[in-house]
Amino acid sequence: MSRPASLLVIFGATGDLAQRMLFPSLYGLQADDLLPPALRILGTGRTDEEASAFRAQIGEAVRRNVAAGECNESVLQALLERIDYLAADTGDSASLEQLGARIGEQRGAADIVYHLSTAPRFYAPICAALGGMGLAGPGTRVMLEKPIGHDLASATAINDAVTRHFDEERVFRVDHYLGKEGVQNLLALRFGNALFEPLWNARHIQHVQITVAETVGVEGRGDYYDHSGAMRDMLQNHMLQLLCLVAMEPPAHFEPSAVRNEKIKVLQSLRPIGRNEVLGETVAGQYTAGAVDGRVVPGYLDELGRPSRTETFVALRAHVDNWRWSGVPFYLRTGKRMPARRTEIHLQFRAVPHSIFTGAQVQPNALTILLQPEERIELNLMSKTPGLDRGGVRLSQVSLDLDMHEEFAAIRRRPAYERLYLDAIEGNGTLFVRRDETEAAWAWVDDIFDGWRHTDLTPRPYPAGTWGPAAAVAMAERHGHSWRD
Ligand code: BG6
Repeated sequence: MSRPASLLVIFGATGDLAQRMLFPSLYGLQADDLLPPALRILGTGRTDEEASAFRAQIGEAVRRNVAAGECNESVLQALLERIDYLAADTGDSASLEQLGARIGEQRGAADIVYHLSTAPRFYAPICAALGGMGLAGPGTRVMLEKPIGHDLASATAINDAVTRHFDEERVFRVDHYLGKEGVQNLLALRFGNALFEPLWNARHIQHVQITVAETVGVEGRGDYYDHSGAMRDMLQNHMLQLLCLVAMEPPAHFEPSAVRNEKIKVLQSLRPIGRNEVLGETVAGQYTAGAVDGRVVPGYLDELGRPSRTETFVALRAHVDNWRWSGVPFYLRTGKRMPARRTEIHLQFRAVPHSIFTGAQVQPNALTILLQPEERIELNLMSKTPGLDRGGVRLSQVSLDLDMHEEFAAIRRRPAYERLYLDAIEGNGTLFVRRDETEAAWAWVDDIFDGWRHTDLTPRPYPAGTWGPAAAVAMAERHGHSWRD
């Protein structure tokens, strides 16, 4: 049984993620009085600086990143008082020993959470060092940022190295999409209402679309991104997690094993897309120069400054081969430099079996769950168009539209890491990814890469500010479907 942590150690505390997301989220928890009173936060990184300089830098980062006018100085001071810093070089044993000693001094009476927000190649040495110093036993947990590996083999190697020191139930793999309000609301929508579940299957749903569109390019992360690409950066993790939440069976409880046992079954039911299928079922793209939001932007290769075959867009047609979803395609697409930032899940229902309205077009119903930038739920229905139409009725498609920001206007929208930190501090792994999920997702994605290599696939160009290569549209249209743009 875990106890709320009394020490949070952040590796990579001077990095971009820490400054933009992690400390601002800790500020949010402090503001809501959700951090355990005794919690100490120890940041560590390669930058050689005093704790006071680190605190000043964190103060600035929080002021910059917390919504304008919402940063309360006394709350910030209370957060900063919890924070200490020690420079450490994870490749140097003397340095790690010093860090170990500091952890020992500050650990307090309860659990320790280590958050590894470093490049994944450091996960094994950090865990080994903590294990070697007797700091990885019961009462400690480790949070790991993505990417967990580059493929199944490297993910397995990382997972082996980490679980040699931390038992699986003490490993908290972060997929920040699971911390998003809208994503959790998907579970509330599915399992908090009796209305949808009877319709949530192949008898009533014709196809599903999941889109994660970003307007940003690679934003100075070219070195990381070019080794990753859209498939590894977004699809293997965030998008497959969304697919799991849409497709899984109702778990018996909202607790770690129950939820993750259902998600893994979905991943294990994904029909492999291999050498014979990749050309028909997947499309890779790479953006060229274009315009986004009225601004001219360079192409990927210009940003990178060298030739590359890395995909900045991927679209594919997946199948979950089980009773519930037999025959229902799941179209997934994600890309950088799309015309709009939009993450949404769209369920297209089947047409009515018979129309009594001669001459009127009866469109199938659709449920769209927008996750960002707005959080909205839209249900498209057919309705009578008011009027006196001779010989029948005219129908129009109308929308029931629930705007979550408006509905809960008085409640602050929290960044994903507030949820994730709170859960990790309290030891609740429900919204973290289990080893078997990561590995099953890699196994599925590895097949696609194998097919791409085998067919020598080169990403198709698409101008920045468009919805990807025309081939992605054609892929859906071949099956009589069209993307919701
Ligand atoms: C990260 C990816 O995991 O998610 C980034 O590495 C991407 O490339 C980001 O931009 C998107 O996250 P969000 O929360 O902005 O949708």
